[in-house]
Amino acid sequence: MRRTLVAGNWKLNGSKQDTKDLIEGILGGISEVKNADVAVCPPFVYIPQAAELLASQGASSNISWGAQNCSQYNDGAYTGEVAAPMLKEFGCTYVILGHSERRAIYNETNDDIVQKYIAVQSAGMIPILCVGELLSERESGKTEAVVAEQLDAVLNVTGIEQFKNAVIAYEPVWAIGTGVTATPEQAQDVHAFIRQRLAEKNTAIADKIQILYGGSVKPDNAAELFAKPDIDGGLIGGASLQADSFLGICKAAG
Ligand code: PGA
Repeated sequence: MRRTLVAGNWKLNGSKQDTKDLIEGILGGISEVKNADVAVCPPFVYIPQAAELLASQGASSNISWGAQNCSQYNDGAYTGEVAAPMLKEFGCTYVILGHSERRAIYNETNDDIVQKYIAVQSAGMIPILCVGELLSERESGKTEAVVAEQLDAVLNVTGIEQFKNAVIAYEPVWAIGTGVTATPEQAQDVHAFIRQRLAEKNTAIADKIQILYGGSVKPDNAAELFAKPDIDGGLIGGASLQADSFLGICKAAG
């Protein structure tokens, strides 16, 4: 039985005060979330603050934290970058990789993403690998081909064993930040496709991996998405910036 994971992707939002308010708000309601794992991914500079607030709750909090990106390099002359071992040092469990905003705005390629994936796992953290199609690709019937290409780009380099310690997030680009959510059936179809593709290499690993859905998840649509057999939680953008809505989604997950 796979556990459900709800991860908040704060993107480029917040301040010290917002981080304090949001983490305290989440901590205030987290005891009602019984069976889901919860994570927050603040901007890099707020990770230490979030970590300190969460760690101060000790074992009473089942909330972990992560980053939204990292360098593929561990050190050196790479101005402006943050390395995976640095994130590990601040207690990060997860690093989101290959988000469509990074692919589209920062021209991240599949080659960059696989190098980052390896760096994150080598540092002892769990990559949350994002895949997903554009609206034009869905409308021209290319959803599975696009998702397969993004997945295979990592799988063919790392091998299936490296999916033991990984999370996948299916995020249709047309659903991110638009208020348009994939229907539970549309999402389930792609999640099942991803799991099947991994199962062709190793059924045990495919059965175990958490596949999250992302794209306009809100408290009122989360439960029916998470009820689908291959949807193991969500990667939440806009709705993760308010404690109430984020907690509402976490409660829908268990
Ligand atoms: P959204 O973003 O929930 O605001 O659509 C999801 C994401 O980009 O991870």
